[in-house]
Amino acid sequence: MTLTIEGVHAGYGGGTVLHGVDLTVPEGTALAVLGMNGAGKTTLVHTIAGLVKARSGSIRLDGAELAGRPAHRIARAGVALVPQGRRVFASLTVAEHLGLSRRKGEWTVPRVLELLPRLGERRTHRGNQLSGGEAQMLAIARALLTQPRLLLLDEPCEGLAVDLAARVRGVVAELTRTGLTVLLVEQQPEHARAVTDRLVVLSNGVITERGETSTEGVSEISMFR
Ligand SMILES: Nc1ncnc2c1ncn2[C@@H]1O[C@H](COP(=O)(O)OP(=O)(O)O)[C@@H](O)[C@H]1O
Ligand SMILES: [Mg+2]
Repeated sequence: MTLTIEGVHAGYGGGTVLHGVDLTVPEGTALAVLGMNGAGKTTLVHTIAGLVKARSGSIRLDGAELAGRPAHRIARAGVALVPQGRRVFASLTVAEHLGLSRRKGEWTVPRVLELLPRLGERRTHRGNQLSGGEAQMLAIARALLTQPRLLLLDEPCEGLAVDLAARVRGVVAELTRTGLTVLLVEQQPEHARAVTDRLVVLSNGVITERGETSTEGVSEISMFR
């Protein structure tokens, strides 16, 4: 499904964090949202998922308006969030997490475990026994089992060792190839590059650059708009 965001403002209490964000992610493609700490990246994905209310603007999935809908309805429309910091339950096993998230659809537990075989080996391990990379795989698995059409990933490589971060990026790239639409939040352009060459830079709640990554990184953004 194609995600179209226009003029989105959002914030907390009296403060505004997003000051009119516009972006489009065509179906089956990935867009990376880069930006420094505090730029508003998490606020953006939370606003898409309905966890933060859009104060104005439009967030459409294949033309259907999501802004203003409650989070559970946005989830049912096919939006899944892999939250920053992964948020797995310390006391639940991998199998229990997967059972809780499961909804009927093309992503079955066996298919998810085929994509993420490490989780199969860790089925009986509890959340607090998983490495950072395993917890990230579990967070992705949980999102897939909700049968998303749009996957929002908030800094999935944060805090992971280099090889595990590379594996996570490989999984995300593979998901894009299955036709899923992906919005990937990253702080580092080199993390985004393995998944997509389309990126925007968010600074202080506005998009300041749109372009494509090159081997030289974000300083070499070539404008495509
Ligand atoms: N729950 C919240 N309540 C109030 N302010 C928040 C909350 N979450 C984030 N902020 C503020 O919003 C701004 C953007 O934060 P965030 O979206 O988390 O940025 P990023 O993910 O790019 O690091 C920051 O100034 C942060 O302090
Ligand atoms: Mg964040």
